Amino acid sequence: MRVCIIGTGYVGLTTGVCLAHFGSDVICVDKDAERVRTLKKGIPPIHEDGLKELMEGGRARGRLEFTGDLRYGVANSDIIFITVGTPSLPGGGPDLSAVRRAAAGIAECMDGYSIIVIKSTVPVGTQKLVSGIIKDKVMGQAVFDVLSNPEFLREGSAIFDTMHPDRVVIGADNPEAAKVLARLYRPIGGKVLITDPESAEMIKYASNAFLALKISFINEIANLCERTGADVTKVALGMGLDSRISPDFLKAGLGYGGSCFPKDTRALQDLARKNGCTLKTVESAIEVNEDQRLRAVEKLKAALGDLAGKTVGILGLSFKPNTDDIREAPSLDIIREIIGQGGSVKACDPAAVPNAKKAIHEVEYCDDAYLTAQGADALILVTEWEQYRVLDLKRLKSLMKRPVFIDGRNVYDVDAMPDLGFEYYCIGRRDYCHK
Ligand SMILES: NC(=O)c1ccc[n+]([C@@H]2O[C@H](COP(=O)([O-])OP(=O)(O)OC[C@H]3O[C@@H](n4cnc5c(N)ncnc54)[C@H](O)[C@@H]3O)[C@@H](O)[C@H]2O)c1
Repeated sequence: MRVCIIGTGYVGLTTGVCLAHFGSDVICVDKDAERVRTLKKGIPPIHEDGLKELMEGGRARGRLEFTGDLRYGVANSDIIFITVGTPSLPGGGPDLSAVRRAAAGIAECMDGYSIIVIKSTVPVGTQKLVSGIIKDKVMGQAVFDVLSNPEFLREGSAIFDTMHPDRVVIGADNPEAAKVLARLYRPIGGKVLITDPESAEMIKYASNAFLALKISFINEIANLCERTGADVTKVALGMGLDSRISPDFLKAGLGYGGSCFPKDTRALQDLARKNGCTLKTVESAIEVNEDQRLRAVEKLKAALGDLAGKTVGILGLSFKPNTDDIREAPSLDIIREIIGQGGSVKACDPAAVPNAKKAIHEVEYCDDAYLTAQGADALILVTEWEQYRVLDLKRLKSLMKRPVFIDGRNVYDVDAMPDLGFEYYCIGRRDYCHK
């Protein structure tokens, strides 16, 4: 099948390369000329395992093209995906301007019959909104169906998730159009669920909000564990063995970040408000998450006292391992708070330093954890990259001015760290620094 993808970010590019891998002819369109130039050179603009190889394979087989020319993409496709960003507006609702612009652009280029698929995360009612925009523009000159097809991939494992989906949700008014989209996904597999568009749109937000809720719940339990002597890692293990609960998303830490959970929980809250309801559980999840990331700074102050004049090393900047994405990453709030309190910050990350440099200038960015530890009064592990799980901890400690270690992701052994001489603080387990 011939596919056009509008927006080559984490979702669009991943979807495009995977569909090309499974035999579709894919044209990826982006309005960002620099991004298109980079893609045409075979360089992925984002960090995702396996992406470069799939891009090379798709281009070599002539199944994958990159362009800034929307008309070319639409004219040569049967199915057109909208995968543009839907960031938060100041009030919490999603900014749909890119979706609107993409819809209007598609309408101007359409000819014959097209299936337009909204893969961006959008509030209930957006499928109708997009249909209306296109209908007004084409004025009977073209025939089309607009489907909702939310995306569930996770950054850091985007290719794997796209190739092994738990489910493919398709929201459609026209069952025939839904069948065509289901056929496109057939080589990939995954359980296909066909619903009305409104339910499909809600499934995405409800899923993300539920996962955010799980994370905030375990973080609250972690904070209680610290006061009661329980160990949250053991508690989560015991809870997760219950098949009704599952162990996923039960890792206590510094809270969730990224381009999805924070904005999608706010968007759901906004949707509820506009419909005269309050989602108390979602509101609480957001509040707990905002507090949780600053637990690292509270622990830092408990160890160091006043932060003025102190140097803190940050291990990990991306919102999760295996991605270069720093959107709403806990690291950013933690760094700003330390600097705001008069401390200075050194930081490293295997992939996210270029993006972090654009967001925060007042940081000394280092090439690795050892350079970050050099002369530091404390280290905070913010993102649990594999590289930071296998550090030479003796060497790390020998480089520090004072061996305060805040383990924001419970990566290290609570007994071994104090034995190595660290003043060790973690989340929801007893701090063993005074052992
Ligand atoms: N990132 C994720 O993990 C993830 C997972 C599931 C769903 N989503 C949702 O998917 C959507 C896209 O997210 P993302 O992270 O891939 O976004 P992104 O910001 O990484 O990429 C968006 C891309 O769209 C391009 N774009 C914007 N308007 C355009 C237009 N009119 N024409 C052509 N290109 C245009 C931008 O230049 C950019 O390259 C969002 O709604 C997001 O909530 C994201």
